[in-house]
Parts: sequence; C-alpha cells; structure tokens
Amino acid sequence: MENSRSFRLFFLLLAFTNCFSYTNAYKIGVGIADVTGPSAGVTFMGYANIEQKGNGIHLRLFSRAFVIDNGSKKFVFVSVDCGMIGSGLRKQVLRRLQQKYKDIYNENNVMISATHTHSGPGGYLMDFLFDVSVLGFISETFNALVKGIVLSIERAHKHQINGRIFRTDDTLLNTNINRSPTAYIQNPESERLKYKYDVDKHMVQLKFVDTNNKAIGMISWFAIHPTSMNYTNRLVSSDNVGYASVLFEKKMNRKHNLIGKGPFVAAFASSNLGDVSPNIVGPRCQITGVECDMHTSKCPGNQEHCVAAGPGNNIFESTKIIAERLYKKAFELWESKGEEITGSIHSVHQFVHMPSQSTEYEDPNTGEKLKVHGCLPAMGHSFAAGTTDGPGLFGFKQGETMPNNPLWNALTNTIATPSENQTKCHGIKPILLTTGEMNFPFEWQPTIVSTQLARIGNIVIACVPGEFTTMSGRRLRSALRMKLQLQQDTDVIIAGLCNTYSDYITTPEEYQVQRYEAASTIYGPYTLPLYIKQYELLASMLESDEIDPGPSPPDLTKHLISFLPPVMYDSTSWGTQFGECTKQPPAYVRVGNTVSVKFISGHPRNNLRLESTYLTVELFTGNWTVIATDANWETMFIWERISFLWGTSEVEIRWQVQPEVKNGYYRIRHFGSTKSVYGQIENYTGTTQVFKVVK
Ligand SMILES: *[C@@H]1O[C@H](CO)[C@@H](O)[C@H](O)[C@H]1NC(C)=O
Ligand SMILES: *[C@@H]1O[C@H](CO)[C@@H](O)[C@H](O)[C@H]1NC(C)=O
Ligand SMILES: *[C@@H]1O[C@H](CO)[C@@H](O)[C@H](O)[C@H]1NC(C)=O
Ligand SMILES: *[C@@H]1O[C@H](CO)[C@@H](O)[C@H](O)[C@H]1NC(C)=O
Ligand SMILES: *[C@@H]1O[C@H](CO)[C@@H](O)[C@H](O)[C@H]1NC(C)=O
Repeated sequence: MENSRSFRLFFLLLAFTNCFSYTNAYKIGVGIADVTGPSAGVTFMGYANIEQKGNGIHLRLFSRAFVIDNGSKKFVFVSVDCGMIGSGLRKQVLRRLQQKYKDIYNENNVMISATHTHSGPGGYLMDFLFDVSVLGFISETFNALVKGIVLSIERAHKHQINGRIFRTDDTLLNTNINRSPTAYIQNPESERLKYKYDVDKHMVQLKFVDTNNKAIGMISWFAIHPTSMNYTNRLVSSDNVGYASVLFEKKMNRKHNLIGKGPFVAAFASSNLGDVSPNIVGPRCQITGVECDMHTSKCPGNQEHCVAAGPGNNIFESTKIIAERLYKKAFELWESKGEEITGSIHSVHQFVHMPSQSTEYEDPNTGEKLKVHGCLPAMGHSFAAGTTDGPGLFGFKQGETMPNNPLWNALTNTIATPSENQTKCHGIKPILLTTGEMNFPFEWQPTIVSTQLARIGNIVIACVPGEFTTMSGRRLRSALRMKLQLQQDTDVIIAGLCNTYSDYITTPEEYQVQRYEAASTIYGPYTLPLYIKQYELLASMLESDEIDPGPSPPDLTKHLISFLPPVMYDSTSWGTQFGECTKQPPAYVRVGNTVSVKFISGHPRNNLRLESTYLTVELFTGNWTVIATDANWETMFIWERISFLWGTSEVEIRWQVQPEVKNGYYRIRHFGSTKSVYGQIENYTGTTQVFKVVK
C-alpha cells in the first residue's frame, strides 16, 4: 500500500519533470516566403532547353524555413522551390543573415536544399555550364531567391515558440520508378537483395508541434524528381512536390486561405532522387508507343524520342496525381503518433576540393582493395542525350553546336580536348566536355563543394551537393548509421541538391554502364566512395567545435556575363490602355468551368510582385475579398508579347471554378507594370466586369 503510493508519486513526478523538459526541449520557428523570379522571357533551369522560356505562372515558388533551437545550439533547414542551390547563392544568403543576426546563423548551421523543380527560371548558379543554356547570369532570378530565402529564415526566426518534434515514416507505392534500372542492376546482387525496390519508397517526416500539440509545420522527404511537368511547359511551377506542399498547407491553414501566407509551413524536400522519376507509366517511344531499348533508351530506327510520362493524361494531371499521393501519405504520417526526437543539436560543415580527394575502395565484385582518387570535372557523352524525363541538357548531339544559343556558339571554338590524365582518370566515361580543364571564360563546374551534416537527437541529416542515385544514397545512409551507431535506416535523412550543385553521384558499379546519371558523375568513377569518406569524417567531428572550414569556393561574381537583353519598353496599340480588359468573362459561369479573360499588359519582368500577385479572383461579400491569386493551382497567368517592335503584350488569366467555390458575384483583376522608352516603371491595374458563379 505504502509502496504503491510512493510509486504513484514517483510517476507523477516523472511525468511532471518530463513535461517540464518538453516545454524546454526545443524552440521551433517556421517561415515561408516567395522566391518567384522572372516568370517570362527567362529559360527554365532543369531541362536546360533554351526553347523552354517562361511565359507566365501556374504555381508560385516558395522558400520554406525551419529553425530549431535547443537553448544553446541552432539549426536551420530550408527547402526551396528551385532547380538547385549554388555556393554563390548560399554565400549571399549567409552574408545577409550575418548583417542582420551576426553569428547566430553561419556556415555550420544553415542548410539549404532545393526541391529540384524543373519549371523555375534559371541563371542563378554562376558556374558557367549551368548558366550557359539560360544565356548567362540573371540577377533578377538570383536576387529573388536570395531575398525570399532570407525572408523565410527571418520569419522563422521571429516566430520561434516552444515545441516538440516527432519522426514518422512509411512506405508510399505507385509514385516513383527508377529511370535507369539497367544501371541499378550493376550493383552487386547481395546488396540489391537487402532492398525490396530499385528506388526508395519510404517517406520520412519530421513533424513540429507546440507544447499544446498545436501544429506548426512539417518536412517530408521522399526521393522523386519534380519532373511531372515536362520540357514543353512554359509556366512557372513548383511541380509535384511544390503542389503537395500547397495542398498540405491549405489543409492546415484553413482560415488563412491565401497560398504562401502561412502560418503552417509544409515542405516536401528532395532526397536521393538521382535516378528516380515520377513518370510512372514508364518510358515509351513518343509516336508509336512501343517500349524503348532498356539499355540505350532509344527507339527502333532512332526516329523518335523515348520519353516517360503518366500517371495522368497530360502533365498537369500527372503533377496533380503525384502531388495528391505525396500529400495523402504525408497527412497519414502527420496523423500517426510518431517517435519523439529529443536531445542535443549539432551541425558541421566543410568545403572539400573533390579532385584532390583519395580513399580506399573495396571492389564489391572482386573484393580487391583499390586506392582511388577524384578527378577534375568532366561530362560524358550520354549527358548530351538526356534522360527519359526529358531530352539532353543542351539539345545538341555530339559534334553539333547548340542551336539558337549565341553564347554557346561563341564558345565552341574554345572547348578543350581532354588531357591524357583526365581521360584515364574518368575510366570508362567517354568525355564530351572536360569542364575541369576549361577555364574560359571562368569556372564551368565546381571543384570545391559544400558538405554538411546535422544531428538533432538521433536524427541525422546529410546535406549532399548533388543528385545521389538510389543506391548511392543507401550506401551513404548505411555508412553513417554504422559510424554513428544509429538503429533505423530512416534515422539518416539525405537532403538532396543541398548548398552546392555538382550534378550526379552514382555508385562505381552504376558508373560502368554510363547512362545519363553516370555521364554526369563529374569527379570520376569513385565520386561516391570519396563522399562517403568525407561524411564519415564529418560524423566523427559532429561534437567538436574546431573544424577546418576547408578551401573556399572561388568568388565568381566578378566574372558573370549575361546575354539576356533587358525589357526594352512596353506600349499599347493606338487607342487602348494598359490594364484594359480585351476579353470579358461571360455573365454566368458554372462551377467546374474555366473562365478566361484577357488584358492589355506590360512585361512581367518589370516587377516580379514578390509576396504579391499578378492577378486576383475576388468575391463580393459586402466588399471585395480575394479568394485566389497567381499561386493557386486553379489559376493560370499567361503572358504573350504581341509585337516585339511595338512592345505590345497581352495576358490571359484563367480560373477554373472549383467545386468548393460559393455561389455569388465575382471579378478578376490584373496587376502589372510597364516600362517606358525612358526606362520608367509604372504600375497599372485592370478589372473585369462582375460575373456570377452558379452551381
Ligand atoms: C509533354 O507534355 C505534353 C502535355 O502533356 C505532351 O503533349 C507532350 O507529348 C509531352 N512531351 C514529351 C516529350 O514528353
Ligand atoms: C543543446 O545541444 C548542445 C550540443 O549541441 C548541448 O551541449 C546542450 O546541452 C543542448 N541543450 C539542451 C538544453 O539540451
Ligand atoms: C596527372 O595525374 C597525376 C596523378 O593524379 C598527377 O600527379 C599529375 O600531376 C597529373 N599530370 C598533369 C599534367 O596534370
Ligand atoms: C470584407 O468583408 C468580409 C466578409 O464580409 C469581412 O470579414 C471583412 O472584414 C471586410 N473587409 C473590410 C476591409 O471591410
Ligand atoms: C508598384 O507595385 C509594386 C507591387 O505592388 C509596389 O511594390 C511598388 O511600390 C509600386 N510602384 C509604384 C511606383 O507605385
């Protein structure tokens, strides 16, 4: 009797102290901000197809930031709707943060990962190869990213509250496939037998709540290329993962229905997606629909492209279906209990010069121990051919110059032939571009990359500077798990396309068949073992305060060149005005239909309207209330230059009336800016007639 009472008291005390330590466990802040660069006239980054120039917006792009603080250490994770992150971009973000917060945010504790959407404006990576297909460096894209990333971190910083973190994970099927299965099967059978699938199908989620269990935010990692939108798309889009974020945030922020305005923030972040496609119907010959050759991804007779698509009937449907699957699984995870993360926070960072790294590699097929080293960057032939998610990076075939690209044409004469050393170092890879030996006009691809590792309790996040293939990611995870004595496979998370972009990373065995991913593994056949050694080193330094920062990447800002002309001027045709509505909506519109209206406009590049919008759909409720902006799935903002010479242009705004839309009176507005021949920028607005929505 006596005993059991003190027992109960003991438990009560335990619960109390537990509660106490919970409320003091972490301070958590989340923030979201707009990073949408120029939506018209700039080539998208991803397929790097010069023809794929933006002409409007389907989904706006956002940066989502998560600040976690345990009282003495801070860590920031940022997921950005963009193609990749470059060292120059991160450096500028850190510079801005340091101006504002001194040393609170620094090289060690800020981790920035790109979602890898292929439908955002390019020109912000600085390294020459990555900007060449976009006509060079584009400061508007760069500045929009810097501004938005910094703002999202500021918002997260300002709103830190006491909270708790939970980790959950589960399998998600029917959402991703391997796009280079013939490379994957080069990995030893004994290793492949450990895994059920040839891509990772688990989603890992960190769930953030306050001490009253109120939702704050979440990050879900799932390996998938955001390439549901193919290279024919001309509207800025955050693709499948971006729309999954929008769906999740809409669900959690019911009262704040405008997109990208918080307070709940949901990121679907990238992982080891190197060989992972969302186009799950798989590759087919585009015209005849027959299966492509497994090994070469070519079609019989070489007369047509081999492309993967699905599961929808077009790219919008496919994006939506994949996004909904991601969202549904993430919401299931959100509702499950999960395992609480507690404990200290550590994060370490080091720059490494990859070509000068060396390590020992045990060949899994022969058991032979090899002394291996890195190479100067080079791209192989298959890189030019592209993947089944999209055609080659430059649209050129071997020996051809790049069509319609003055920057490329000006340079073809300077392209070096690889040295004997370089040819030997890259082994089986036939070198197309020996980028590491080309220094004109400046660095083509990075040789110094960022590597970073963070630990929160027993969760480890490895920030990798490129696109690890499925098996590369698995090897890195298992090496880190061993090193840090972690229990579960999902204790190590790979944050993809993080801090620096250095293309792909395959296993040495996958490298042997030289598909696109291997041709783009730029530091040679042993790139992966070199990285594994580096991340093991970071793991051993997680708790130390003195870490050699490594060599600094070169500052490319003074070299940058741009061939993209500015907006010259805008004007209207005689007798018309900017903002004039040239196509009015019908008087009555039924739910499910799409309203299309047109306005006389200026060039969207005149003002990016960050944190704002080029359009609103408004409902009359005694006053006009905005119910949708250009960030909504159901709206499209499409810009067209009518006459380059006269500077006239037009926008079309489409609104698909969703089932949940109320009966009532509506109008659509357009907000734009014009540039005069003297360079002055002026705003205008346009408004349609009022129309009625009926069920
Ligand atoms: C890209 O998507 C569009 C729209 O769904 C489709 O018509 C086209 O065939 C696709 N092209 C390729 C190469 O996948
Ligand atoms: C926070 O993490 C650091 C290690 O990074 C540790 O020294 C410290 O004790 C932790 N603080 C709390 C309150 O857990
Ligand atoms: C060739 O490579 C070896 C070993 O990587 C290096 O020692 C040597 O300096 C290189 N030679 C040239 C000309 O770059
Ligand atoms: C507009 O109307 C809505 C709904 O009737 C109301 O909640 C809101 O406060 C009004 N806004 C202004 C500025 O009057
Ligand atoms: C034009 O509109 C933008 C976006 O709303 C605003 O930031 C800017 O100050 C406006 N410019 C002028 C001259 O009113």
